[in-house]
Amino acid sequence: MPVLSPSKVAATGLRWCMKNPRIIVALDFPDLKQALNFTARLDPAACRVKVGKELFTAAGPLLVEKIRNLGFEVFLDLKFHDIPTTVANACKAAARLDVWMMNIHALGGRRMLSAAREAVPAGVTKLIAVTLLTSMERSDLNDIGLEGNPEEVVRRLALLAWDCGLDGVVCSPLEAPGLREITDEGFYLVTPGIRLAQASPDEQKRVSTPRHAIENGADYLVIGRPITQAMDPGLILQRLNDEIEGAMCQIKAAP
Ligand code: C5P
Repeated sequence: MPVLSPSKVAATGLRWCMKNPRIIVALDFPDLKQALNFTARLDPAACRVKVGKELFTAAGPLLVEKIRNLGFEVFLDLKFHDIPTTVANACKAAARLDVWMMNIHALGGRRMLSAAREAVPAGVTKLIAVTLLTSMERSDLNDIGLEGNPEEVVRRLALLAWDCGLDGVVCSPLEAPGLREITDEGFYLVTPGIRLAQASPDEQKRVSTPRHAIENGADYLVIGRPITQAMDPGLILQRLNDEIEGAMCQIKAAP
């Protein structure tokens, strides 16, 4: 089925990106100054932003507050993985920063996931679980003694997160269709490992294009270097949003 043209998209009244941007830009910068300079070049109507371990360790809660003051919703990507009490308390502290989304590792197990959910009740900050890092492949699983291929392990971890009442999971776009089949639509599938067609995958192993990720059932796309290292990040963001929008309209228009 052909992708709808931008004018047709506008005519259908299905423009969504201003209300619920699907791209989460990974702010993988070493310090507050670089992160804020870059974020100021983005439009909060076109994306959300992700603050990860490197930046949060360097710049902390102050940075989160400053980004929020620029109008951005923040995904705090600290991937907590520890004993249940420690993770629950860390989640409470993160929720006090008024972040839109935060995450923990599903590999922490049922008691850790449930403790985190209890600490951050549904309906406030979205709490999601990382299944397997998209940089991992089968040989990495074997190294740490995990049986099965990545798809099987991801499926098991996603079901565990769902069962513990989490709001969604981080997974590879390639795993999204399988997870969509076993979870309902309100369970967020957040997918990193996104690359434009023909671009370098960097160290990511299980990658996909934005269009393909949306077609596979992803709700939010985490994209770092393709945007942060672009000459014109705003332009790339616009192109990516157009690609996503086309894919979403096609899905909505499908019988
Ligand atoms: O630059 P790139 O698009 O590869 O950035 C991907 C971002 O998504 C990084 O910030 C990385 O930490 C994060 N991420 C990931 N794989 C996961 C979870 C998060 O690549 N499973």
